[in-house]
Amino acid sequence: MGRAPSPAVLDRLSRPLRDVRISLTDRCNFRCQYCMPREVFGPGFRFLPTAELLTFDEIERLARVFVSLGVDKVRLTGGEPLLRPRLPELVARLARIPGVEDLALTTNGFLLTPERASALRAAGLGRVTVSLDALDDATFASLNGVGVGVERILAAVRAAAEAGFSPVKLNAVVKRGVNEHAVVDLAGRFRHTGHVVRFIEYMDVGSTNGWRFEDVVPAREILDRIAARWPLVPVAPARPGEVARRYRYADGAGEIGVIASITQPFCHGCTRARLSADGRLYTCLFAAEGLDLRTPLRQGADDGEIRRLVAGVWRLRIDRYSEERAEQGPSRANKVEMSRLGG
Ligand code: GTP
Ligand code: 5AD
Ligand code: SF4
Ligand code: SF4
Repeated sequence: MGRAPSPAVLDRLSRPLRDVRISLTDRCNFRCQYCMPREVFGPGFRFLPTAELLTFDEIERLARVFVSLGVDKVRLTGGEPLLRPRLPELVARLARIPGVEDLALTTNGFLLTPERASALRAAGLGRVTVSLDALDDATFASLNGVGVGVERILAAVRAAAEAGFSPVKLNAVVKRGVNEHAVVDLAGRFRHTGHVVRFIEYMDVGSTNGWRFEDVVPAREILDRIAARWPLVPVAPARPGEVARRYRYADGAGEIGVIASITQPFCHGCTRARLSADGRLYTCLFAAEGLDLRTPLRQGADDGEIRRLVAGVWRLRIDRYSEERAEQGPSRANKVEMSRLGG
């Protein structure tokens, strides 16, 4: 059952706060080149100690505060969110919050067994997105940095579908000269399945992936490659401010999306806040700083005080990093890693 939406809190560019992306851990069992390169996130890397992670109680409280400020869409991310023990328990707590209309999870799929997928579904998770960047083991294993093969992730997609998640979305980051060939492979593999593959332009997130503009395959080129084989028709956004541009196959074989943060930035409609695993609030994927909410929470601040802190940050928000990058090139140093602040 729907509920009257909460009154919007607007930022300086008149964008309401509508979504929150919650990172459950900064750890991951993969070492994707474009996110947590092995050379940086090696054996000596210091991840957050458990005591610094928000507890389920703290996450639920913050989620309720976000909802009271107008959020109706919650996405659980990481790092790898399935590394968090007892995840279905958290999902059940978040799914019960009146006003959470859309509860989703982004995962690399490695731990998404049929049992886990069913438990998450039963707990009230609404949608699952699985990352998969290629269909040949050599390319995929080299991209994920830990040698995991494709079959394990395809099994996760099947598990999600069998548990009742429909459609399953797939995310593929496209990197020039690395997995360009996977674009047509992935599109072809998931036609007629009901699943939606989204092709993502390689982004300059964080400060360690060695991003270069030459490594980006523009969305236009991705679409042209697919459309040369299977003609595409644009589809209107499902909701305002959506990240992916949607297309359907003219022959009715399904839908794909492109996420073109580099060549067609979408900051003007960005309604997303991010909460890191250690309880910092970030108002942009490319932020260098966030507001610590965990300390006031642990010092006994009540919901009203936390609400004022979040609303205060949002009202001052002027973030439009991707648009600025498009206008004047990459500009910011010390961007927080994506695995930390929540992809
Ligand atoms: P849907 O709700 O299904 O549309 O999911 P989503 O596309 O918002 O989430 P997902 O976790 O699948 O993210 C897909 C890609 O979009 C990832 O590479 C994200 O980092 C990127 N992304 C998500 N939100 C933003 C954003 O606000 N800005 C930018 N630049 N990229 C984003
Ligand atoms: N550029 C684009 N997408 C990225 N992701 C991780 N790092 C990058 C990057 N540098 C994607 C992951 C996952 C999603 C949450 O973000 O592949 O699907
Ligand atoms: Fe892990 Fe996802 Fe980052 Fe890959 S993109 S290293 S799977 S958090
Ligand atoms: Fe939003 Fe920042 Fe992404 Fe722009 S770059 S869409 S402001 S998160």
